[in-house]
Amino acid sequence: MMNYTLRQHGRATLDFLSSFGSSIGPLMKGQQEALDTAGLNDETLADDLDDRAKQIEGVLEKVPAFRTTNLVGEWHGEHHARTAAAAFEEIKDDLASDFENLASGGTTLSYNPDLDIPKYWPYPIHRTTGGWDGHRHMGFIHGELVHRYIVGKAAKPPAAGGKATDIYADRKNFAEQAPRRDYDHVVEIGCSSGPYTAKLAEVFPDAKISACDISIAQLEQAQRNGNLAGQSWNLFHADGCATGLDDESCDLFTSYIILHELPVKVIEDILREGFRTLKSGGDLLFGDVAPYSALSKTGAWRTDYMATYGGEPFWRGSSTMDMVGIMEDIGFVDVKYEGMAPNNYPWVTYGRKP
Ligand SMILES: C[S@@+](CC[C@H](N)C(=O)[O-])C[C@H]1O[C@@H](n2cnc3c(N)ncnc32)[C@H](O)[C@@H]1O
Repeated sequence: MMNYTLRQHGRATLDFLSSFGSSIGPLMKGQQEALDTAGLNDETLADDLDDRAKQIEGVLEKVPAFRTTNLVGEWHGEHHARTAAAAFEEIKDDLASDFENLASGGTTLSYNPDLDIPKYWPYPIHRTTGGWDGHRHMGFIHGELVHRYIVGKAAKPPAAGGKATDIYADRKNFAEQAPRRDYDHVVEIGCSSGPYTAKLAEVFPDAKISACDISIAQLEQAQRNGNLAGQSWNLFHADGCATGLDDESCDLFTSYIILHELPVKVIEDILREGFRTLKSGGDLLFGDVAPYSALSKTGAWRTDYMATYGGEPFWRGSSTMDMVGIMEDIGFVDVKYEGMAPNNYPWVTYGRKP
């Protein structure tokens, strides 16, 4: 983790945002009680997602717990990136020398000024103000301040005096699902600021690790994180649908939580790119959220609702697509599409190139 000290104002505003996390649990309980009272459950709810939304929201719109959750969610969605950007402004001069020093080392970054940015990509992902490249330093702002600080603190507050919890441990558990440890070349798609890349380098210490993203701001922060960790990653600026890598040039093609950010057609194209670039016998391993079919009807509605208002326009498509059929059509064998114990997260999409 990069070393920085927030100013008092920035720290107070970020702490205020992370403190919302604990208020959501009781509000969700209040919503569930209202649905139980109205007799809405897996037997009475419609199969069609839009009809189901009308049933559920028709009850919840009168429930204060629902309206309060929406208000908190809306406020958080609207303000988190601005607040984090303002906290960054206060410390950016302190970070300048680290930014310069960490731009060189074993982790390299190749930038493609001619990259065709796909049309779907510049949306305000996670409602980030201006989109993923909406700020010159969005990699630091989102990776360090929004994710590692706000989300990390809300999810797992460190025990008093205790060692900070590794909020990226899920990525290591997931990388360990790969059937082999002796890969030569691991390729990651959508690495963002590199939290999964770091775990890939730990789990496969002898492999060449290449990772791409469309966001140059995220890749720059990934480079800093790779160099800070003393690891050697080849970061490259590319669309996962057309990586520019040679045919049969890798033996693990992998990603973590990118599928729900992508239109179904793009997911298909990335899977095809995986098949093209994998050597015979190579593995494709993608981790993401559980599909709606693995959730209760209320759970699927809640996820869909939060995605709609949380800046995730492609979540429904990726959560309802025929992933197994597509993987098999492309040519993958031994296809698995299943959740990891104990709570189905992450959901594993796996296939082997024959
Ligand atoms: C949720 S983030 C990934 C998070 C990261 N893998 C992790 O472990 O936290 C999704 C990333 O996918 C990237 N992305 C979206 N479409 C892409 C594409 N077609 N090719 C490569 N990266 C893409 C986005 O720019 C974003 O950085």
